[in-house]
Amino acid sequence: MSKQKWLITGGAGYIGTHIADLFIGSGKDVVLLDSLYQGLDSRVAYLRDKHKIEIPLEVIDVRNYEAIDALLAAHKFTGIVHTAALKAVGESMEKPDEYLEVNYTATVELLEAAKRHGVTRFIFSSTAAVYGSPDSMEPCREDGPTAPISPYGSSKLLAEGKVTEFISIPGNHGSSLRFFNVVGSANQALLDNSVENLVPIVINRIKANQAPVIYGNDYPTVDGTCVRDYVDVRDIAAAHLAAADATTALPPAINIGTGNGASVREIVKFVIDAMNRTDITPVDADRRAGDPAFLCADVSLAKSAMGFTSRYSLKESVESLF
Ligand SMILES: NC(=O)c1ccc[n+]([C@@H]2O[C@H](COP(=O)([O-])OP(=O)(O)OC[C@H]3O[C@@H](n4cnc5c(N)ncnc54)[C@H](O)[C@@H]3O)[C@@H](O)[C@H]2O)c1
Repeated sequence: MSKQKWLITGGAGYIGTHIADLFIGSGKDVVLLDSLYQGLDSRVAYLRDKHKIEIPLEVIDVRNYEAIDALLAAHKFTGIVHTAALKAVGESMEKPDEYLEVNYTATVELLEAAKRHGVTRFIFSSTAAVYGSPDSMEPCREDGPTAPISPYGSSKLLAEGKVTEFISIPGNHGSSLRFFNVVGSANQALLDNSVENLVPIVINRIKANQAPVIYGNDYPTVDGTCVRDYVDVRDIAAAHLAAADATTALPPAINIGTGNGASVREIVKFVIDAMNRTDITPVDADRRAGDPAFLCADVSLAKSAMGFTSRYSLKESVESLF
């Protein structure tokens, strides 16, 4: 059987490079596509050095439909892992049109190009943001309500709908994987460089000798702070490999989390301990609008549909950052 070749969009990004690392390690060829808007050439250089192979990085914007068409014509891709996106929830409120264009319209065009060029497998990076701000203290199920509260979440939910149409075509295969809060790193060279996720924010504040801020201490949770599901990026990569290698049809959307919640106060403590900065005490502030008390994944579908369960503990994820 010939070697599989996967296109990974957002392939110079935090999650994209972790997926590439695992795919290459498991014998697949990869071609990376990234505009380098947020992605880093240095991450790809690290992978080339680690695996001792040439890894093509195509610097293309996903909205450049002609270039994408030419790329799909030039290769015979087994499948596409589509991680390229804008992902800052706050920014999406200011630039809703751009979020729709990059996260939704460009996904529709990529799916059309896949159809034209006979690419039958598609794995889409979706997000827990499709669930919005549920009142429930129960883990979110894929067949439960979706109600995004940001243009980011809406753009991903709309794109999911198109991915579902694509994978329903006979012979096609794939899913939208809904990641919860992604943490950790396989190597210092692959760290998350975004500014919106809790763990990098806490690390940066501590590095600047500033106290981390905890928004809201009166939620109906174990210690009054918000509870989230933090899943290691190496587990996210493993979930993609499971989806890519699945031989039976996958459900259209699958939660990727640990199924265990951790509170903001716990996370902050993990980071303070890992950085050995017990001299720093977090400060409490008022709740922020739109933050649900509890947002965790029901992970039973990932297990039953593709045999995936997360392996890394939160402590291991946080420690991997240092
Ligand atoms: N990190 C998380 O906690 C998290 C949680 C849920 C979902 N996700 C989703 O996972 C995916 C990957 O996220 P990440 O954390 O690796 O972020 P990231 O910013 O590191 O990766 C996204 C990549 O897409 C690229 N990109 C952005 N706009 C592009 C465009 N117009 N054309 C081509 N490339 C473009 C960026 O340069 C970047 O390298 C995203 O789709 C995101 O929505 C991430």
